[in-house]
Amino acid sequence: MNVRILKDEQAVARAVAARVIKTLTARPATVLGLPTGRTPVALYARLVAAHAAGRVDFSQASTFNLDEFLGLPGDHPASYRAFMETHLFGHVNLSPRRIHFLNGAARDPVAECARYEAAIRRAGGIDLLLLGIGTNGHIGFNEPAAGLVADSHPARLAAGTRRSNAELFDGRVQAVPRRALSMGVGTILRSRAIVLVATGAGKADVIKATVEGLVTTRVPASLLQLHGAVDLVVDEAAAAGLRRR
Ligand code: PGA
Repeated sequence: MNVRILKDEQAVARAVAARVIKTLTARPATVLGLPTGRTPVALYARLVAAHAAGRVDFSQASTFNLDEFLGLPGDHPASYRAFMETHLFGHVNLSPRRIHFLNGAARDPVAECARYEAAIRRAGGIDLLLLGIGTNGHIGFNEPAAGLVADSHPARLAAGTRRSNAELFDGRVQAVPRRALSMGVGTILRSRAIVLVATGAGKADVIKATVEGLVTTRVPASLLQLHGAVDLVVDEAAAAGLRRR
């Protein structure tokens, strides 16, 4: 894993935005994989500003988001789809037909996941996947477990994951769905390039385990050690546990 340690959250957002802009400039029809969460908010703000300044064009790009709550339609205000509309999609020139999302309201969740995998394949695969990481090591909604599902699948959320998503539901943990649809670790590892982003002291332990620990499904992000093109972009606080390099 290529580790890049930057001063703070804004420096991380600036570096990852620059990577996305460079990728889209070199190849306008890039297929992006996108995360939700608190970490990418500053990154999306920079991409929106860059677009407004005429520095990045999304018109040929495609996007696939990592995950969505099960049971929520995309127009539900707490859905990840709504989050993406608020922070990115509503402000850039992505073509609506090239924005792809797992439909949390699908009647048949398993069929919905198969549809998503087929759509990723049809798009030619994901060129650049941006990822956040949970404090328990989850990527997407692939929570720590004895075994992990490779392809997109209905997943059960860990208790801590539901707590950290309560903000989207007016602070009510009970309102956070217990299940979600998520890309699997195989979907993630099939991406040509991956940028894992983490900021803040709360991520220091899991970043150490991800980079320096054993490859284990108990820390799903550690599987990224198996991929040849992963850049980890972290601030100093999230890097605090790493051995000096
Ligand atoms: P966060 O979430 O960016 O809100 O910390 C990351 C994640 O759980 O994947």
